[in-house]
Amino acid sequence: RGYKVAVLVGSLRKESINRRLARAVERLAPADLVFEHVRIDDLPLYNQDFDADYPAACKRLKQQIEAADALLFVTPEYNRSMPGVLKNALDIGSRPWGTNSFAGKPGAVIGASIGATGSALAQQHLRNVLAYLDVPLLTQPEVFIKFSEGLLDAEGNIGNEDTRKFVQGFVDRYVAWLQRLLS
Ligand code: FNR
Repeated sequence: RGYKVAVLVGSLRKESINRRLARAVERLAPADLVFEHVRIDDLPLYNQDFDADYPAACKRLKQQIEAADALLFVTPEYNRSMPGVLKNALDIGSRPWGTNSFAGKPGAVIGASIGATGSALAQQHLRNVLAYLDVPLLTQPEVFIKFSEGLLDAEGNIGNEDTRKFVQGFVDRYVAWLQRLLS
């Protein structure tokens, strides 16, 4: 059967290379995998006072995560970590205490940057947080994409054959892993 994958992209900008990478994964995946992008740009900054009466946008995020079978995180690297907007979404989804919406949802972490390390350090920080949030993580292959001009277009086409094959390999392994965990 098909699965619903909630996609969280850690960049808000229009031309985001990470959003392009998310589209590329979607294009290379089988049609019965449905990718739903989770909106994080209109979330308030998490405040523990919310826990008494959770804001509507925060409830929406939690419901979207809970309705998904699996997760895909696509993160840029900001100052050797994940962007604050992504951490904020994780904090919101993990609360109020005892209602962690991410718990038990299998996830994968990938990303791209313009630096040679391809967002590796951001991904490592993100994996640390997700492990605490009880998200089983695909460990290999790691996907550290160093962006160069023409590598990814707005529709998610990959302009380099080796990179396309590599991302296809990630997708195949992610899908096989989800089928094992979710069937
Ligand atoms: C960056 N960038 C960056 N790149 C990197 O490889 N390591 C880093 O630590 C950082 N730090 C960093 C901090 C801040 C505040 C910005 C704005 C940028 C560059 C980053 O890889 C580049 O802007 C990407 O294009 C961001 O991803 P999106 O928005 O295109 O998906």
